[in-house]
Amino acid sequence: MKIHLLSQDSQHLNPIRFSQQAHSVANTSPNTSTQPSSNTFSNIQPLISQKSLSERVKAMGKDITRHYQNTDHLAVLSVLKGASVFTADLIREINLDPVSLNFIKLSSYGNNTQSNGNVMIEGKLPNLSDKDVLIVEDIMDTGNSLAFLKRYLEEYAHPKSIRTAVMLEKPSRRDPNITLKPDFTGFSIPDRFVVGYGLDYAEKYRHLPYIGVVKPPSAST
Ligand code: IMP
Ligand code: MG
Repeated sequence: MKIHLLSQDSQHLNPIRFSQQAHSVANTSPNTSTQPSSNTFSNIQPLISQKSLSERVKAMGKDITRHYQNTDHLAVLSVLKGASVFTADLIREINLDPVSLNFIKLSSYGNNTQSNGNVMIEGKLPNLSDKDVLIVEDIMDTGNSLAFLKRYLEEYAHPKSIRTAVMLEKPSRRDPNITLKPDFTGFSIPDRFVVGYGLDYAEKYRHLPYIGVVKPPSAST
């Protein structure tokens, strides 16, 4: 697997305001040494290893800890279901007190294959009033979901501040109307549909400890 810091060319795609730069993942063969030897997932082409995820999450936790050094209350808001695995790892790398853990579920309606901003909050909004809120999302694809959630919270949740942490982002997929940039980013990836580490394909593969690309049926072994 080739993971390197963003080149100058691609940097404008992914400015990280508070953190060290997100790592860019090239579309090449990854190091599979930390992956299960079972062939259960032979139709998944690994993209980011468990070890790389773990190292990156630790670094993000340090960044977040540094950024929120003087907070009165950091409210982590994890977006279900995709961000659950990432959140569980990330919060254990945040060395602050107090930190509360909150969840929210979004649902899209309208176009099924791509989010288009038609997003709704499911269930009750947690109490985030006067708290520094860190939205934790699995992936920023078009950016519609994250932009919607941030706007919604600004309007209805009365937080002290709102920042965003995403495990993955696909800069090439960004909706041109979305100007929001994540404050903390794990990896910047090419335009491929990925699964694992919380991300699913039709509710499958969330439990993979690494991130991979679903191979088309003809390419599976
Ligand atoms: P958005 O296009 O940024 O609004 O992304 C909406 C949601 O689509 C994300 O939070 C994910 O749940 C899902 N999604 C986008 N890209 C992928 C992918 O590559 N794999 C799995 N889920 C994805
Ligand atoms: Mg999601």
